[in-house]
Amino acid sequence: MNKVLLAALSGQRVDPVPIWLMRQAGRYLPEYRALRAKAGSFLDLCYTPELAIEATMQPIRRFGFDAAILFSDILVVPDGLGQKVEFREGDGPILKGLRSGSSVDGFSIDRMIEHLQPVYAAVKGLRRELPKETALIGFAGAPWTVATYMVEGRGGSDHAETRRFAYREPEIFAGLISLLIEATLAHLSAQIEAGVEVVQIFDSWAGSLPEQEFRAYALEPARRIVAELHRKYPAVRVIAFPRGAGAMLPVYARECAADAVSLDSSVPTGWAAAAIQDRGQCVQGNLDPAVLVAGGDPLFVAADRILGAFAHGPHVFNLGHGILPETPLKHVAQLIERVREARSA
Ligand code: CP3
Repeated sequence: MNKVLLAALSGQRVDPVPIWLMRQAGRYLPEYRALRAKAGSFLDLCYTPELAIEATMQPIRRFGFDAAILFSDILVVPDGLGQKVEFREGDGPILKGLRSGSSVDGFSIDRMIEHLQPVYAAVKGLRRELPKETALIGFAGAPWTVATYMVEGRGGSDHAETRRFAYREPEIFAGLISLLIEATLAHLSAQIEAGVEVVQIFDSWAGSLPEQEFRAYALEPARRIVAELHRKYPAVRVIAFPRGAGAMLPVYARECAADAVSLDSSVPTGWAAAAIQDRGQCVQGNLDPAVLVAGGDPLFVAADRILGAFAHGPHVFNLGHGILPETPLKHVAQLIERVREARSA
């Protein structure tokens, strides 16, 4: 296997450790800010294949990461299903929130796939443009995380409204989660058929769920999505990112059976090495995005600790969450150099 990311995700210890960064295409890059200004709106950027290809390629050209992640967003799924999404400057995403009692009957997965054809066209173009050693990652939001935006109509931090909906109207909420499992599978399958080799499932808000709801709305949907992708596409590797899962992480890793688990920065590395990596499952992560902004000794110390903790098994170096817009370019280059120069134990 000549793509180091695929080797690590297949359970091999790779030296040097493969590296890419969540949100590696984005506002910390001056060339992204210029492209974004030219595109007009964020969704125009996502839905114009040439521009999405260009945004995906920018961090690869500048830094030579081991993987490219398709430039898109998790909210193209509700947008395609028929719940229009808008990105307002400074406000983040705005959707017309589902009110209690609303039904999901009007949403259509066929219409979503039709609407998202430009996204799949970008994947096809990227396979032609990427260097042969660079893996291409596709992605989707996990059902729970996408549901929080669909119910609340915007980004939030505690998702109390979505949880209330789930407790008061469990049948309607379960219907929404089922629809999102199917929509996620259809969207990831279309990306795979267009040429992505790896998919990441972002459950950015898994941490707001109590145990039973975590099992029902985060773990079980992930398990079903991973099992179906593995059945249909045995060569494709799946990374799951249950951000904030805390003590539920080992159960999640084992039961959802993704090829790799992406760890947020709060996860103790020694604990994750013992509970997840020692069982042969790849781990990804988990540098604090804020230490990459800070730079200097704290950055090198933190990166070395992570490399050391995960030196004995399959590991993909990444952040614990997306790169921050204020991150200096120089720190990114220094981090890559540090990871590539690290000697194995
Ligand atoms: O990783 C990459 O480089 C690929 C592209 C990517 C984007 N969003 C581009 C983007 C990926 C993988 C995402 C995932 C995403 N989107 C998540 C899950 C990961 C996470 O960070 O937790 C979530 C929750 C979203 C939803 C979303 N998109 C929000 C809340 C926002 C507004 C906040 C923000 O960061 O601006 C976005 C917008 C967005 N998605 C931008 C980018 C580059 C910034 C938009 C701009 O340029 O104006």
